[in-house]
Amino acid sequence: MSKSSPLGFFDSGVGGTSVWKEVIHLLTRENTIYLADSKHAPYGRKSQEEITQLCVKNTELLLSKGCKLIAIPCNTATTNSIDYLRSHYDVPFIGIEPAIKPAALKSNTGKIGILATQGTLSSKLFNKTQREHTQDVNTIEIVGTGIVELVEAGKKDSDEMRELLVPIIEPFMISGIDYLVLGCSHYPYIKKQLEHLLPSRVKIIDSGAAVARQTLHVLEELDLLNDQSLPGRHQLYSNASITVLDQLTSEIANRNVAHLEF
Ligand code: DGL
Repeated sequence: MSKSSPLGFFDSGVGGTSVWKEVIHLLTRENTIYLADSKHAPYGRKSQEEITQLCVKNTELLLSKGCKLIAIPCNTATTNSIDYLRSHYDVPFIGIEPAIKPAALKSNTGKIGILATQGTLSSKLFNKTQREHTQDVNTIEIVGTGIVELVEAGKKDSDEMRELLVPIIEPFMISGIDYLVLGCSHYPYIKKQLEHLLPSRVKIIDSGAAVARQTLHVLEELDLLNDQSLPGRHQLYSNASITVLDQLTSEIANRNVAHLEF
């Protein structure tokens, strides 16, 4: 492993590319490998044991490709399995968690919404973070049932998505929240739809930029920042159809998208 070794990423599918983009915009010289485990999406309805098994499979593959750090741009995988991964592998892991803390600190109405998967909302790590940071605010937690499946199907901007979202966000509409936390990496891809549906006072926040800053910080600490002068190259793999992964990352230079069984 060296400074020019790639950063590894895995998510249950294409959603984690929303976070991966934040990382590569900040760390322009880093090479990356992204695994979209779309064949096993959604993770959010699986047991902790199943999620951990999938995380181990993805981690082993990234390690076999020589990754120097593994980022998990998946709230469900992080909140259920990052402790297990950190205790079984030496490579540094960067996780993602819903941005509850900044939302709770900034809220004026004292009410914040959290939209996430069932797997995240029921995890011990999420509940611990929630207890620590929301003593002074009310939280309205909603499971985004069906959203991941539509993003995976390339339907983020569809009427079908809008129709799915209307009843999901109703509790946010009537509760007077002023911050909505997107607790799933697939959801930044529906931010526009949500902004359109929610009152303008509701600010929507996600954790992508925080993951990028944390990745920079850890690479600096470990003296693992890539010092090559060329821009980073990016290899993205899906174990299902590559069409949506290709579409969602089409604006990124130096990237290659391919199918891989894993
Ligand atoms: N994108 C993932 C997350 O951040 C997982 C969604 C899923 O597979 O259920 O939670």
